[in-house]
Amino acid sequence: MSELIVASEPTKLVRQAAEWLAREVTKAITERGSCALCLAGGRTPQPVYRALAAEASIDWERVDVFFSDERAVPPDHPDSNYLMVSLALLSRVPIPPARVHRMEAERPDREAAARDYERLLPLRLDVLLLGIGPDGHTASLFPGSAALDERERRVVPVVGAKAPAERLTITPPVIEAGRQVAVIASGEDKAAMVARAIEGPLAPKTVPAQLARRGSWFLDEAAAARLTAQKVDR
Ligand code: 6PG
Repeated sequence: MSELIVASEPTKLVRQAAEWLAREVTKAITERGSCALCLAGGRTPQPVYRALAAEASIDWERVDVFFSDERAVPPDHPDSNYLMVSLALLSRVPIPPARVHRMEAERPDREAAARDYERLLPLRLDVLLLGIGPDGHTASLFPGSAALDERERRVVPVVGAKAPAERLTITPPVIEAGRQVAVIASGEDKAAMVARAIEGPLAPKTVPAQLARRGSWFLDEAAAARLTAQKVDR
């Protein structure tokens, strides 16, 4: 793990994660001219995306947005990760529409949708934000899933354990190749898996979020409650 931030209040968690994202996006643009930013779905990052939209320092003309996973619903469906990210972030910043790369998980042929998305994904994402589920999943890589054994393909269709079940997800090599990776988690229901992901014996097939172990972890106190590691409150 490169960094463990445990925030004492929800507003601090949001601010710390948003500042980290803004810093890493800007660093990528400075170093390489653009930033391939991959975003998680779920509930936890929503306020972070709103805070990120308010970060005036980001040159959105040079950012490409990708998604870690998507549910098999149309882009205007309440369960769509794309819709969530659009409302919280993309509609509030001057990002060129052509730089927003939505996973088309609603296509009847999800296999083809996965292959098409793989062609869009750069070999290395610059910045990757992930979440973790109470079962230890990250992106839509669920415990025991065959997608966790994938070494060649970078995007695959899966049937997950969280509704809506049918999804597209990035695979382990994409997380491993990410230049900067962060995980955000809050709430006591995540505490046991957060501890196993960061400190437990390495077994990503059982605790997929271990794929992001080397990253920066942004936690609230409830999610960090079972860790023995030293915590930094900012
Ligand atoms: C999804 C996600 C998923 C999410 C975790 C945590 O589409 O469901 O990308 O991996 O990050 O399930 O979700 P919450 O933040 O809602 O707890």
